[in-house]
Amino acid sequence: MKKYIIVGGNKLFGSVNVPCSKNAYLPILAGCILCDEEIILKDCPNFEDIKSMCDILKELGASVIKQGTTLCVNCKNITNHTIPHNLSGKIRSSIFSLGAILSRLKRAIIAYPGGCDIGSRPIDLHIKGLEAMGVKIQDKHGFLNCDGCNLAGGTINLDFPSVGATENIILAGILAKGETKIINCAKEPEIVDLANFLNKMGANICGEGTSTITIQGVKKLHGIEYTPISDRIITGTYAIATAICGGKVELNNANQEHIHALISKINNNCCKVEIKNNKILVTQERRPKSFQKLETMPYPGFPTDLQSQIVTLASISKGTSIITENLFETRFKHVPELVKMGANIVVKGKTAVVAGVSQLYGAEVNTSDLRGGAALVLAGLGANGYTTVNGIEIIDRGYENFEQTLTSLGADIKRVEQN
Ligand code: EPZ
Repeated sequence: MKKYIIVGGNKLFGSVNVPCSKNAYLPILAGCILCDEEIILKDCPNFEDIKSMCDILKELGASVIKQGTTLCVNCKNITNHTIPHNLSGKIRSSIFSLGAILSRLKRAIIAYPGGCDIGSRPIDLHIKGLEAMGVKIQDKHGFLNCDGCNLAGGTINLDFPSVGATENIILAGILAKGETKIINCAKEPEIVDLANFLNKMGANICGEGTSTITIQGVKKLHGIEYTPISDRIITGTYAIATAICGGKVELNNANQEHIHALISKINNNCCKVEIKNNKILVTQERRPKSFQKLETMPYPGFPTDLQSQIVTLASISKGTSIITENLFETRFKHVPELVKMGANIVVKGKTAVVAGVSQLYGAEVNTSDLRGGAALVLAGLGANGYTTVNGIEIIDRGYENFEQTLTSLGADIKRVEQN
């Protein structure tokens, strides 16, 4: 069992170099499957989910070599079209590789994906999208057995702007004959980054970042060198940590546009947020006022991946906050753990009613998902006394050097690994 032991109360001062985005890197790795030349990906972060995605590429027959923070990927010799449960079930992003494998090999057998336990995580939009492109899918025994020999462009109207389904359909359309149009697609920055990466390789995508994306299929892609965008959720996590603990933290390699919804909630509420080129300077000025009405929405709305962290900030705010989670059915699992620390929160369906207290106190708490785990670390940093956060392996999936970075900012946090 790996855990953090935190002594709360220290303010945070210093700077953080925000790593590349997990949720940009993962679909970009899936995109490498489409190309039979070498691709160089720079600044590869040390996230467990990225290692799992690299294992999937290797299972398919790709060569994936990490030299420092540079990843050399070559999918020239991809021949295997099957992803077993032990690999596919570890991460949600395994499902994104389906479109790419079909586009390249016209066949795929892939076990159901995994991912954080934050809801039912259906894949019906992925399946409907690929079937609209002529793919025949047998969905049984927890496997998708796909025949893509008739894969061709199609028009897909997504019932919901699903990030993963948008990425999957884009990847399926790149080498498919004809035009693929995705209506009501996701507009997240990670979608735009995937399109930029693919277009640099010779794909023909337009409309990314809007609610309609159009892809003209091409014959072949060529190898490139690419650096994905920075991780907006890690940027937001450290900004909220500063708002909770107090202090002044500079976030380097951060894109303020990508976290506009968060900045609008904390700037002039409890923090001063200054933008200088690709740096964001967060200075905590006072205890936050409550968030009257905060709802998670698809981009550019407030990101669901920062909901757990903002609930932690709301738990020590002045007044009562009403926070609604619109994307995932069970993404309040961190709340009972915050209540152990003295938070006053009632969850009713999709909504958490948070009556702010002046300070939380330390306790032993358990993580249940990636962002909820990060939120519990933030709670411990701001709490009075000792907090133990158990099950921190789950945090390693999307944060690198978390304790080292927080320690460099002045936090008192130790990682304990008991076998
Ligand atoms: C991506 O997950 C991210 N993961 C998630 O980040 C993020 O929370 C989510 O997008 C929303 O922004 C990666 O990019 C690897 P969705 P994804 O499909 O693609 C419903 C993190 O912490 N839906 O946009 O799985 C679904 O139930 C992770 O980094 C269907 O109904 O999210 C949910 O309600 C957590 N049918 C909504 O759409 C489908 O076929 C949004 O899901 C697919 C999705």
